[in-house]
Amino acid sequence: MFDQAHRLRQIVSSIRTDEEKTRVLAITSGKGGVGKSNCTLNLAIALCRAGKKVIVIDADVGFANIDVLLGMTSQKSLVNLFDCRTKIWDILQNGPDGLKFIAGGSGLQDLLTLDDTQIRYVVSQLQELQGYADYILIDTGAGLNAQTLRFILSADEAVVVTTPEPTSITDAYALIKLVSNRNKELPIRLIVNRVATRDEGEQTAEKIRLVAERFLQVKVETLGSIIDDPSVVKAVKLQVPFVTCYPDAKASRCIQQVAAHLLNVPYIRGEKKGVRSFLQRMVSLLRS
Ligand SMILES: Nc1ncnc2c1ncn2[C@@H]1O[C@H](COP(=O)(O)OP(=O)(O)OP(=O)(O)O)[C@@H](O)[C@H]1O
Ligand SMILES: [Mg+2]
Repeated sequence: MFDQAHRLRQIVSSIRTDEEKTRVLAITSGKGGVGKSNCTLNLAIALCRAGKKVIVIDADVGFANIDVLLGMTSQKSLVNLFDCRTKIWDILQNGPDGLKFIAGGSGLQDLLTLDDTQIRYVVSQLQELQGYADYILIDTGAGLNAQTLRFILSADEAVVVTTPEPTSITDAYALIKLVSNRNKELPIRLIVNRVATRDEGEQTAEKIRLVAERFLQVKVETLGSIIDDPSVVKAVKLQVPFVTCYPDAKASRCIQQVAAHLLNVPYIRGEKKGVRSFLQRMVSLLRS
C-alpha cells in the first residue's frame, strides 16, 4: 500500500517537472518593420527541425500577420477565447514542419477590458499549453507601447530584433532601457537582422551590449545576425517562410545558427518560468 502511494507521488512529481519545460520567449523590437515576424516564424521552424515542439503566438495587437507570411487565412485567433467557450485546441493551427501557431486578431486590444470570468477562462485555456510545447515564441508588435511591454515583462526571456541602422539601434536601446527599468532580471538577447556582413552584425551587437552594460547595468547577449538577403523578400511575396522555400539561402543558414545558439543557451527552470508564471505575470500586469 505504502509502495503504491509512493509510486503515485513519484509519477505526479515527474509530470510536474515535464510540465515545466515550456520556455516562453517574447520576440520584440523598438522600431517597427525590422523583421520580427519573419525572425519569429523562421526561427520557430528551425527549432522544429531541431526536434523541438514550438508554438508561435501572434500577439501584434495592431497588425497581425504570421498567417499572411504562411499564406493562410485564419478563421480563429486568440480573440475567440474571449467568448469563454472556444477551446485552445480549436485555435491552434498547423504550420510547416510540425509548427503550431495561434493567429492574432484585431480584437486583441480588448484584452484590457475583459472581465474576471473571461480572464479566468483565457488563462485556463492557455495553461493547457504548459508542457505541450518546448518553446512558445510570442511575436509582439513594435515595442514602445503598453500592451507589448506587458507581453515582454510576462515572458521568461526577451529577444530584441534590430537592424544595423542607427534609428533601429537607438530604438532597441530605448526598449531595453524601458524593460530593464521594470525588471533587471529578465534575460534580454539580440538578433541583428539585415546585416551586410557578419562583422557588421557583431559590431552592432557589441555597440548595444556596451551601452546597456555601461548605462543600464544589464547584460545583453547576442543570438547572432541575419544577412540582408533578397530571398527573404521573395519568400514574403510567395507567402512561404524563407527557411521552407529557400533552405540554402544565406538568411536561412543564419537563422539556423541563431536557433542552434538559442538551443545552447542554458535554461534554468524555476518557479518563475513557464506558461503558468507567464500567465500570472500577465494577469497582474493587466490588472495593475
Ligand atoms: N533579412 C532580411 N533580408 C531582406 N529583407 C528583409 C529581411 N528581414 C526582413 N526583411 C524585409 O522587411 C520586411 C518586414 O519584415 P517583418 O514583417 O518581419 O518585420 P516586423 O518587424 O515584424 O514588422 P512590424 O513591426 O510591422 O510587425 C519583410 O517583408 C522583408 O521585405
Ligand atoms: Mg510583425
